[in-house]
Amino acid sequence: MEEVGPRDLKIYFYDVVDSTQDLARSLGAVEEFTVVVAREQIKGRGRLGRGWYSPPGGLWFTIILYPKTPISTYAILCLLCSLSIVKAIEDVTGLKAHIKWPNDVYLKNKKIAGILVESDVIDELISRALVGIGVNLNFQIESLPEELRDKATTLLEEYGETIDREVFLIKILKELKKYYEEYRAGAYQKLVEVIKSRMEMIGRTVSVSLDQEDVTGLVKDLEITGNLIIESTRGEIVLNPSKIKKLELI
Ligand code: BTN
Repeated sequence: MEEVGPRDLKIYFYDVVDSTQDLARSLGAVEEFTVVVAREQIKGRGRLGRGWYSPPGGLWFTIILYPKTPISTYAILCLLCSLSIVKAIEDVTGLKAHIKWPNDVYLKNKKIAGILVESDVIDELISRALVGIGVNLNFQIESLPEELRDKATTLLEEYGETIDREVFLIKILKELKKYYEEYRAGAYQKLVEVIKSRMEMIGRTVSVSLDQEDVTGLVKDLEITGNLIIESTRGEIVLNPSKIKKLELI
């Protein structure tokens, strides 16, 4: 384990871990913006208890935050991570990636990154957030199981060159730090506008699998909370990320 990073960031690099989420949790009450990075994860996890393939070459990390913001703004926190990844990809490669609500980044219609925010809540406020970010960076698509290869991509596949993992990580963290300060200050509406400008799905039709039903509708807007508003045949529906099993553009 090695500590690096600009003075205001503590970044710990590990080799093989189960999940950076668990490692981050085990650190206890560390400084805000402490970051745990792994070269490889054996038990990487995604949303809804799904597994997350984390071969060497990817960028797998967890940031520890203490936002103390209302739990109703949880979706914005996830979206700020996607926004930071989209910006980092554009800065480093010139490629245009998009935020896929609620917790993914897509490049050329394929998933390139995913976000998992595990939060502790006290009195309706997020007291701690373990912000897990996985970016398919420097590996070939063959490193993923066959069933994922037409749905996912990597930056190596799309850009054709290896990208320095630390440089890329610091880019994401710097972007996120800037947006996070605005988020802490309550500038939700301003952030929502920036997020929307990087979402391809506004004005498009989506099909959504919820816990009990599937709905299809036109994406109208993003609420100030980060919830998505769609217009379905049943009228307007406000979607909260925790209820979404699957969402596809059609
Ligand atoms: C998803 O798309 O469902 C979210 C994937 C989140 C993966 C990252 S990789 C770093 C951190 N550690 C984990 O076990 N998961 C997150």
